[in-house]
Amino acid sequence: MSKPPKPRRPSAFFGDFVHCTSLGEVEILHDHLVVVNIDGFIESVEPSSSEKCQRYLKGEGDIECMIPQGCFTIPTFCDLHLHAPQFLYQGTGLHLSLMEWLNEYAFKAEERIDGDEILSKKVYKRLARRLIENGTGAVVLFGTIREETNLILAEAMLEAGLRAYVGKLSMDKSSRETYIESSAKQALSSASSFADRCEELVRKKPQHKRLVKPILTPRFVPTCSDELLKGLGRLSDSRGLWIQSHMAEAHDQVKWVREERGVEDIEVFERSGLLTPRTIQAHCTFLDPPSLSHVAELGTSIAHCPLSNAYFSAEPFRLRESLDQKVKVGLGTDIAGGYNLDIMSSMRQAVAISRMREGSRVMANEKGKEKGKDSGNQVLSIDWKEALYLATTGGARAMGLPTGTGTIEVGAPFDVQMIQLIDEVSGEGVGQMDFFDIPYYQAGKLTLKEVEKWWKALIHSDD
Ligand code: GUN
Ligand code: FE
Repeated sequence: MSKPPKPRRPSAFFGDFVHCTSLGEVEILHDHLVVVNIDGFIESVEPSSSEKCQRYLKGEGDIECMIPQGCFTIPTFCDLHLHAPQFLYQGTGLHLSLMEWLNEYAFKAEERIDGDEILSKKVYKRLARRLIENGTGAVVLFGTIREETNLILAEAMLEAGLRAYVGKLSMDKSSRETYIESSAKQALSSASSFADRCEELVRKKPQHKRLVKPILTPRFVPTCSDELLKGLGRLSDSRGLWIQSHMAEAHDQVKWVREERGVEDIEVFERSGLLTPRTIQAHCTFLDPPSLSHVAELGTSIAHCPLSNAYFSAEPFRLRESLDQKVKVGLGTDIAGGYNLDIMSSMRQAVAISRMREGSRVMANEKGKEKGKDSGNQVLSIDWKEALYLATTGGARAMGLPTGTGTIEVGAPFDVQMIQLIDEVSGEGVGQMDFFDIPYYQAGKLTLKEVEKWWKALIHSDD
């Protein structure tokens, strides 16, 4: 017999909380009491000096978790772009160009998962577990073509308690005969049917566990006819469904679309009604500043996947320019176009790629000055605090999650992870850990420098 569920009640947490209030601003809330209501939303955030906090500390309120010294709590990360069926072989075949890689690896791996229910259950369950271990609380997933396999994916995410947008792939064109939908009409009917079935699955869960939703997923322009794209645009419009795809990603892909359709990706998506405030487009490396400004006007979000871009794109994403134009940007791992699903890696890669762009700008400027030209003095690099914003608050905005998600603010969902700082005595680990499994830690007041050490994975104290 299964155990009866525990009665749900408000819970309270006391200790240090860290969050990004805006781009580049990291705030530490020392010794704060955070009370969470039964639906999992933050009801109050109080400093230790407040009357309410004092009452709780005297035992008049029930504190569920005293966050130990040396640990802090931070919002969970958002991964805006991950191919769930490709988790099987992450980081494989990256010596190829994008179009070759899709043909050689991606389509085959997805077809395999679609044809093996036992395998898909195993892989998707493990994917959910790994996401949690890596501190990801919200994820936007590309799935496969087959509806049932995507329902298995949705179920795995629901079971794990992750916020997830699950995308049944739409593709009525393919280089692989056996991995394709039979017509635009059939693909549209299947996209609509999956949305219905996924929503039905979610409705069966109690309100506070309804964290999964379907997202329309035209794979990218080369695999979708105009009829399919326009149909998906109409479906999104009539039902308010979210949309994801890949836009202006790679040199061979951009060339393909130009040769086949005589236009750019952005025009194809826009005329199909697929650039909306509910759209997340991955990559966008080939968008110039005017196009990025247009994306900002349309309210469409971008999933920045820095490592995948290094392999496939031939161009780095204009991250700083996008942020300046107020495009909603978050980070993605783009598994399998990367080695792991740790968003910490994506944060560091985003910083590294932006530094390289900045170096190139400085050099071009120096050369230009010799010739009497100035190539601009806008600094293109981002720092760790900005990267942390992208992984939390920025990603949550891009996903349109409830207001405040990614911060420790009243009204926000309490989607958090515990970080353990360095154990100076044993020299052990820096990293995420399960919220309730808390070992002992060193004393000391949390400073921004310590948070930065965590971000850098700096194990040894140098002061
Ligand atoms: N473009 C279309 N499909 C894919 C995919 O599976 N991965 C990446 N990185 N780009 C794509
Ligand atoms: Fe991708």
